[in-house]
Amino acid sequence: MIDVLKEASQILLDANNIEENTEKKSERNFVTIYDKNTQAFIKEKLNTFFPDIKFIGEENNCSNENPYENRCFICDPIDGTANFRRKYNHSAISLAYAENGEVISGVVINPYLNEIFYAERNKGAFLNGNKIKVSENHLNSAFVAFGTSPYYPELIKKTGQLIGKILTECEDIRRAGTAALDLCYIACGRHDFFFELSLFPWDYAASMIIIEEAGGIITNRNGDIPPLDKRSEIFAGNKFSYKDFFSKDYLK
Ligand code: IPD
Ligand code: CA
Repeated sequence: MIDVLKEASQILLDANNIEENTEKKSERNFVTIYDKNTQAFIKEKLNTFFPDIKFIGEENNCSNENPYENRCFICDPIDGTANFRRKYNHSAISLAYAENGEVISGVVINPYLNEIFYAERNKGAFLNGNKIKVSENHLNSAFVAFGTSPYYPELIKKTGQLIGKILTECEDIRRAGTAALDLCYIACGRHDFFFELSLFPWDYAASMIIIEEAGGIITNRNGDIPPLDKRSEIFAGNKFSYKDFFSKDYLK
């Protein structure tokens, strides 16, 4: 998985004429030819090594595959397409492997910094070969990252209210534009807490195991493990920031 994503990274790094090769999927949501090409490349490579494992990707409608019944890969070929279109140099490729609905391993690569986050169940989480773990910061000294669920207008006001409340307590906030990396930054202690009110499984499946293996927590508001077959809200942090967040009435 790591080798495939390393190769795929070159597609993002070599991209040009991005705007001419962009289509609108829905309000604020765009797809470039590089999203599609990167996914096609990863899918084909994986298929040559693992022909029996299903593939679920953002760009090919996952409706036919059930991650709870099959062995499957779950892939976001470019997480942070908005950043990618603007040459912001902060996007990622995310790839998880799951068996019967449980994520077994995950890789998230940031081609621009050559940073590779990865984890395998019960084997720890790593950044470029070095073991990583979450911070021990409480919410009152936290860097809180968040996503705005930009494709869902009904969530914008709620997101603003929530961040307004947290900002009165934490050290500062960040909105970097790729959920997969925001979550990996929790795993390595650069961020202390993260929330987004709606994400797809391909945005978080790989980062989820990276956070868990780094000693962190990632759930919905009820404390449930986020699903692999539908959208979910996501709250993630170390055990202190996570507990602090849910001990307040921030979500009311
Ligand atoms: C998006 C990014 C963004 C988050 C959105 C996601 P995409 O993924 O992760 O940070 O706020 O909710 O959809 O669309 O660039 O793959
Ligand atoms: Ca994407």
